Amino acid sequence: MKNKSIKVSSILKSRWAKPAKLSAMTLLCGTILFSCSSGETETAAVSEEPGLAHESTTTEVAVADDGKGIGPVKTVEVGPGIEEALAAEGQTLFEGKCSACHQLSDQKVVGPGLAGVTENRKPEWVMNMIINPEEMTKKDPIAKKLLAEHLTQMTNQNVNEQDARAILEFLRQNDQSI
Ligand code: HEC
Repeated sequence: MKNKSIKVSSILKSRWAKPAKLSAMTLLCGTILFSCSSGETETAAVSEEPGLAHESTTTEVAVADDGKGIGPVKTVEVGPGIEEALAAEGQTLFEGKCSACHQLSDQKVVGPGLAGVTENRKPEWVMNMIINPEEMTKKDPIAKKLLAEHLTQMTNQNVNEQDARAILEFLRQNDQSI
């Protein structure tokens, strides 16, 4: 048995050795060819980059300025009072999808306590954070800061817009009852 396994591995070695050398050669040749023939294209690509980066920074700042966050929710109507049935629906969703990481007080668990969140943020921002947390923590200045503080990425809980609206109503109810 021992002998056999040694044989197999030495065959494998000799079989692998050649293609590895070959592909290294091909790569080398390819690199040389590429850098000779495409000098012009490369320069063009490099000079375009700063412009692109600048453009996207400007867009991010503009989005951040309206305080609505980044995501599908552009405008939300909220009444002065609480829609009780909607808030109750939101409570059920919250308990199933959010309460492992969030308290309704100001106490942090994994994520920040959510007391006062509907007073400190726009309703659109709260909904976009619920629906689109990964992009929010990358691009929205407030969400970025929160991630830096809490050091855990909020998970995408697959909440659709309608359910996010219900959760928002529940969080508004929570804030009005404090
Ligand atoms: C795995 C833990 C986790 C789950 C589950 C989670 N969150 Fe979060 N949440 C966080 C963390 C952590 C942050 C801070 C931002 C970050 O680090 O990603 C956050 C931030 C937030 C914020 C912003 C708070 C503020 O102070 O502005 C809101 C609102 C929020 N979450 C709501 C929810 C809702 C609603 C759910 C359920 C649908 C939910 N989260 C599910 C961890 C979680």
